[in-house]
Amino acid sequence: MSAASADLVAQARTVLRHAYAPYSEFRVGAALAATDGRVFVGTNVESASYGLTICAERMALGAAVAAGARKFPPAAPCGACRQLLAEFGTDLEVVAAGPTSERRWTLAQLLPDAFTRESLDR
Ligand code: THU
Repeated sequence: MSAASADLVAQARTVLRHAYAPYSEFRVGAALAATDGRVFVGTNVESASYGLTICAERMALGAAVAAGARKFPPAAPCGACRQLLAEFGTDLEVVAAGPTSERRWTLAQLLPDAFTRESLDR
């Protein structure tokens, strides 16, 4: 792991102490580096209305945008949809069909090492 990555992990580990996860008791910290060198951190914040829960990563992204940072190293698009589909199995076939061509993947290809119900076993 590069020194820069190790520093991000260290910052994520530090901030997860502030996670608010009374329902899952699964505490997550995230650290996001902007291309200008600034680092933004976040924790998960849960709600009694479970669906309102905010993931640590989205919290870090919100902190970055609120501080005017919008450029980050490349990231995969629309991870939220991939995550929700993974709830029902990562062997799902995904087809993107355009007017003249189509592309196919398995969900496992689009979302390797997915966070699934097994990830909550500890
Ligand atoms: N969680 C995150 O903060 N990030 C992830 O990538 C996956 C899950 C949080 C949401 C919830 O508070 C707890 O972990 C259990 O899913």
